[in-house]
Amino acid sequence: MDVKSSVGLYWDRRSQTYDRNVYKSQSAAEHFWKSILKTEIGTEKNLNILDVGTGTGFLALLFAELGHKVTGIDISKGMLEKSRYNAERLSLTVNFMHGDAENLPFDDRSFDIVMNRYLLWTLPDPKTAVNEWSRVVKSGGKLILIDGRWHDPAIHMRLRRFLGSIIVFLTEKRNPGMFTSHYATIKDQLPFFNGITPNGVVDLFTEVGLKKITVNNLEKLRAFETKNRPLSYKIANKPYLFLALGEK
Ligand SMILES: C[S@@+](CC[C@H](N)C(=O)[O-])C[C@H]1O[C@@H](n2cnc3c(N)ncnc32)[C@H](O)[C@@H]1O
Repeated sequence: MDVKSSVGLYWDRRSQTYDRNVYKSQSAAEHFWKSILKTEIGTEKNLNILDVGTGTGFLALLFAELGHKVTGIDISKGMLEKSRYNAERLSLTVNFMHGDAENLPFDDRSFDIVMNRYLLWTLPDPKTAVNEWSRVVKSGGKLILIDGRWHDPAIHMRLRRFLGSIIVFLTEKRNPGMFTSHYATIKDQLPFFNGITPNGVVDLFTEVGLKKITVNNLEKLRAFETKNRPLSYKIANKPYLFLALGEK
């Protein structure tokens, strides 16, 4: 099986439990996310926005709630099923589509804003992806990327992840070993599997010709997460989120 099919298969399986914890803890932080998004994109309404690797639709639904026209695309049909369910539950309209972040089915300059959260680490060809995201942004539009460092290979962080996974098993009633065993076979083909630094993203953005590049370390959100994340996540990784923005 090729690497992308394997990634899709993992997220199809993970879709059954993703919202069980991730979505709940994220919705507690929802007002932080909304204020972050408003700060970064301004108060203009009805922008045409693409959320790449939308998952269960967290960002896409926030944007829809803020009054924008949103498309969410994902490689996993299982995750898309959940995103559609979430949209219905919240009475929000988002165009959720199946597709590949590295080969988007959109014309050049289709969107005012293209964004993604927690996606880059699981792509086999991040450079192609960023190029593709930039291609579909209008001139003067923005590309926003939110990521962090999830799989720090340092020995003490491995130990913390192991302890975190025991707590996940007990509290979320899911097998965290599914992630480790599934990604073990493909992680060497994912250049940013261990995470990417803000400088790394700035380099990628610069290479595709984006301008006015800024990085926001999301300090308030990190502080909130440090206090409020479920114990398993607190143990497994330190909040190391950042948001990078570039203009076309
Ligand atoms: C960690 S989840 C993040 C989901 C969502 N963005 C969020 O913030 O909750 C990664 C998502 O990226 C999707 N994904 C992975 N590779 C992809 C690809 N090549 N094209 C589109 N989506 C992809 C997965 O199916 C999964 O839904």
